[in-house]
Amino acid sequence: MELIKNLEWRYAVKKYSDESVSEDKIDRIVEAINLTASSCGLQPYRLFVITNPELRQRLGEGSFNAQIHASSHLLVFAGLNEITNEYITDYVEMMEQQRNLEKGGLKILEDTLIDYFSPQTPQQNTIWSDKQAYIGLGTALIAAAELKVDATPMEGFDPKLFDEVLGLSGKGLHASVIMSLGYRDADNDYLASVQKVRLPIGEFSTKIN
Ligand SMILES: Cc1cc2nc3c(=O)[nH]c(=O)nc-3n(C[C@H](O)[C@H](O)[C@H](O)COP(=O)(O)O)c2cc1C
Repeated sequence: MELIKNLEWRYAVKKYSDESVSEDKIDRIVEAINLTASSCGLQPYRLFVITNPELRQRLGEGSFNAQIHASSHLLVFAGLNEITNEYITDYVEMMEQQRNLEKGGLKILEDTLIDYFSPQTPQQNTIWSDKQAYIGLGTALIAAAELKVDATPMEGFDPKLFDEVLGLSGKGLHASVIMSLGYRDADNDYLASVQKVRLPIGEFSTKIN
């Protein structure tokens, strides 16, 4: 299975070279994230792809992760702060259009989703959006590895700063998790040559027959 080889090849890069990732590869990684699963299919997060050096310098302030600015691209997974009725209605309408259904043809689905989400607090919505964003993060890691693009998933950033600098609150979003993309500087990254550390499979997983 090629995927296993790709996952063995990848690691969370600490030091990137100056080489840029082509826009074509970035577009394919973004497409893979867009194609990944999300609960109810609602895709309750948005993705920002940032190259602007000054912006990234600012976003990295106070973080131990130099990769925020010292890499080719920075992905910001930004979860929705609230799952509003309007968001659900728009989503269901999009589904009707993309599946060539008549308007209102998915009213039962719309009502079910609204009944499920409307009693929830914004905090519950935020936690749920973050979980979905992390599924996107996992897919991005796999997609990058397949393209032999290096990546670093990161929680080591200041979410408030990201919200402020990127104006996320005004868009009803918040920074959930981030990822840098680029190419490893193998000579200067101590992690490039160390053994990957994982639990033995038998300890990690249990088969119940
Ligand atoms: C959600 C998440 C957050 C992470 N945050 C950081 C981070 O802020 N900085 C960093 O250098 N690595 C970060 N990592 C990378 C992990 O440390 C790394 O994936 C783990 O040690 C396993 O090593 P490997 O990915 O190189 O196989 C993060 C990984 C994940 C999945």
